[in-house]
Amino acid sequence: PHVAVLMGGWSSERPVSLMSGNGVADALESRGYRVTRIDMGRDVAVKLAQAAPDVVFNALHGAPGEDGTVQGMLDLMGIPYTHSGLTTSVIAIDKELTKRALVPQGIPMPGGRLVRSDDLYAGDPIPRPYVLKPAAEGSSVGVAIVTDESHCGNPIRRDAEGPWQHFPELMAEPFIRGRELTTAVMGGADGPRALCVTELKPKSGFYDFEAKYTDGMTEHVCPADIPADVTQACLDLALRAHVLLGCKGASRSDFRWDDNQGVEGLFLLEVNTQPGMTPLSLVPEQAKHCGMDYATLVEAIVADALN
Ligand code: DAL
Ligand code: MG
Repeated sequence: PHVAVLMGGWSSERPVSLMSGNGVADALESRGYRVTRIDMGRDVAVKLAQAAPDVVFNALHGAPGEDGTVQGMLDLMGIPYTHSGLTTSVIAIDKELTKRALVPQGIPMPGGRLVRSDDLYAGDPIPRPYVLKPAAEGSSVGVAIVTDESHCGNPIRRDAEGPWQHFPELMAEPFIRGRELTTAVMGGADGPRALCVTELKPKSGFYDFEAKYTDGMTEHVCPADIPADVTQACLDLALRAHVLLGCKGASRSDFRWDDNQGVEGLFLLEVNTQPGMTPLSLVPEQAKHCGMDYATLVEAIVADALN
């Protein structure tokens, strides 16, 4: 089939998406597919109408490719596409809506509070230490950990550098000490399955944007060296979250695990409906561990969109 790979766009994750999209396009070409690469601008609908692909590989990250907007456009145009549909995307990109969808179903997630950045300067929304993150971004863009030792002052000063200066709406969550884990889920003809658990060990600081995309800055331990019950809980929770949200293709669920608390210390942070597909990315790494090379993974995601 003729595959249009949508990539780029104008979100803060544009550079990541270009790496994902070009990786995917190269892999499809190596398998003999006809490929059209589209760096998404405002004219994307025109470009798609001209290319008239059989299917779109959505390699966008962040809004509007991960938040349902592009999915709605493709629905209107009648073009099948990889990964999740409109409703799922709207919910999963939004940290508050995700909690509302999953916590009542028994998925453990940290309690959170939406705050306007203006309110932060009056005082902390929840006790320190806490994590502040934009309500709807990916790749840890704009994430800050607010502690008494950090340079944020108490209360946070208006002129202090941080996400509050760039994002009017933020989610405040209690900081969970311990370890960072992630699990990919792949769709398929026999239903979705969780792949494995990776532990992310940043060489310094936390698993932020730089640690995610700079080769050598984070050690990936795959499969994670953790107790069997915690591994099983990650696999179960990632699969349940994928199904509850109605994800398609591939998703990736990120966790924090407080290793002083046993399996009770495991919390789902979020479900990524457009997980990274760069050479350093976690879904390709887990697929490889399960015996599926990068090009086969990409083909499987395309096949899932067409069935
Ligand atoms: N938001 C990045 C691309 C990820 O989840 O992998
Ligand atoms: Mg994310």
